[in-house]
Amino acid sequence: MSVRWVMPVPGYLDSSVFLFLFPLLECPLTFSRVDVARSLLGDCEYRPVDVFEAWAPVNIALCKYWGKRDAALNLPVNDSLSVALPDKGTRTRVTRLQGESKDIVFLNDQPVSEADGFYQKVVAHLNLFRLDRGDRFRIDTVNNIATAAGLASSASGFAALTRATAGVQGFNLDGKALSILARVGSGSACRSVFDGFVRWHKGEAVDGMDSCAAPLSQVWPGLRLGVLTLTGAAKKVGSREGMARTVETTPLYSAWPAQAEADIAILEQAIVDRDFELLGVTAEHNAMTMHATMIASWPPLLYWEPESVAVMQKVWQLRKDGVPVYLTMDAGPNVKLLFESPVEDSIRQVFPDVEVVKLFP
Ligand code: PMV
Repeated sequence: MSVRWVMPVPGYLDSSVFLFLFPLLECPLTFSRVDVARSLLGDCEYRPVDVFEAWAPVNIALCKYWGKRDAALNLPVNDSLSVALPDKGTRTRVTRLQGESKDIVFLNDQPVSEADGFYQKVVAHLNLFRLDRGDRFRIDTVNNIATAAGLASSASGFAALTRATAGVQGFNLDGKALSILARVGSGSACRSVFDGFVRWHKGEAVDGMDSCAAPLSQVWPGLRLGVLTLTGAAKKVGSREGMARTVETTPLYSAWPAQAEADIAILEQAIVDRDFELLGVTAEHNAMTMHATMIASWPPLLYWEPESVAVMQKVWQLRKDGVPVYLTMDAGPNVKLLFESPVEDSIRQVFPDVEVVKLFP
């Protein structure tokens, strides 16, 4: 780990005190993404190959990540818990280039220009793995999810890129190291390193080396996620800006970390007990609370569209009619439904365009 900043020693300390204290004082107060990569990859064996391909799934949080304690390292204020969508996500191939001065990036078979923010984010992530200054790569990344469906491809994208780049460089990393490296690319990507139910432990360390995801062992074969693609999406405020605005401008945010911690404990128990009602109530309440903090920010952050509210009302009416279905929403207008297989027909009757995802084999 490199030393980036040494605490200044006050003038009244004489040199003997300074020498005694020096080992304690010589500790960095801030850490960069490069520090994180160096400490994870620095001692790793390096066995490069020419091509490596990796897959990562999209994940949907049942307890949301909202608010950063360190924006540079994507360290969260609270733990979060998600479920992976097994067949929806990103496949990324990293190919080592010879004699090229720049990386080449293709997204969904289309070349991405160097001026594009996506290209710059990909290159910044590759930089973490580029131990030889001359290393250049071609990235082919394909999402099998329609962007309009509102499923965040940045989580699966950074998880797949992390796996594929570590693979092409021949780093043999465990799930924890992959999760930490994916996290510095995009926070929720640390959960997309794993399948099934996944908990992201926020960690306490300033360098974030304990902030990573881990899978839960439980499966729930009857659990379904309904994806509804809504139209008329408003101009998006990205999650990075949205989180910062919420943390900085609404007093309601102070209640969020405690609710998230309580919700995670309930969700974990609901998963162990396969208690769908408890899972659904907790996930929906958690999402609505997150949106309440966003709406109470200034300027207000309202991701909902009229179509989103219409779906919410239909979900609440279905519940009144005795159909156990709950909803969750992220930083966008789209609504995702949670239900179990026996009510799938009732859901399809009310939402004919719903795409139903089976979450476990
Ligand atoms: O990882 P990001 O920066 O895309 O943030 C994700 C934020 C939410 O989708 C709203 C919540 C979550 O936990 O996925």
